[in-house]
Amino acid sequence: LVFSLVAVMWIFGGNILWAQEKKVYINGIDADFPPFAYIDEEGNPAGYDVECVEWIGKEVGFEVKTKPIAWDAIIDNLLAGKIDFIASGMTITEEREKKVDFTIPYWEIDQGVVVCEGSDLNIIAALSGKYTVGTQRGCTAAMWIEDHLVKEGTIGKDKLKLYESFSLAVMDLLNGRIDSAMMDDVMVKDAIKKGKPLKVIGIIKTGEIYGYAVRKEDKELKRMLNEGLRRLMKSPKWDELIDKYMVK
Ligand code: ARG
Repeated sequence: LVFSLVAVMWIFGGNILWAQEKKVYINGIDADFPPFAYIDEEGNPAGYDVECVEWIGKEVGFEVKTKPIAWDAIIDNLLAGKIDFIASGMTITEEREKKVDFTIPYWEIDQGVVVCEGSDLNIIAALSGKYTVGTQRGCTAAMWIEDHLVKEGTIGKDKLKLYESFSLAVMDLLNGRIDSAMMDDVMVKDAIKKGKPLKVIGIIKTGEIYGYAVRKEDKELKRMLNEGLRRLMKSPKWDELIDKYMVK
């Protein structure tokens, strides 16, 4: 009898585990946004944001899959249900908050302006309207340039060059096709650390904060991400990941 009871409990226990199989949520990332989110040389998702949400998933009980999406279409893909959240260095902006919800803030950045190492452009000249400036399509650097320079008539629209990714802007910068490039300062410093012959000529203090984006109706997912972020920020893992990915 004891034996069969144990057997029954074992089967039952198995069923309970089965019924509680973990939910899978898809994190949409830009495949080329180091150090926050990118695809590494082996083809695996990596980066600060990627590892943070993996940890959070394990901690609060869901599984994370990562899916690369073009940055300028990433919110539309979220709204269309192709992905479930965005943990990929996204700045919380009023415009974006009309469409999606954000978690609590987890990082702060400013915008960095770079030129080739040998260039003698300063930031005033670089943004004066006489020279071209490149950045990623759909990012806050592009929005800043639009709002502060193009709309005011300081620079012509033709002087702002938009790319699929910041790396492509850097490529054109190094080839002499554009004169400067602007992007989140953390990413700019990361590119220099990895050997790109660039120099920072100025930091624009935008004081942007990053959050993870979720669909407005996904209250439960937002609650879990917030809970996970709070626990992560208190755990040693937080500093471990900063050491691993961030430029000091
Ligand atoms: N923080 C900027 C923004 O929200 C740039 C982010 C770019 N992130 C990325 N994964 N490409 O627009």
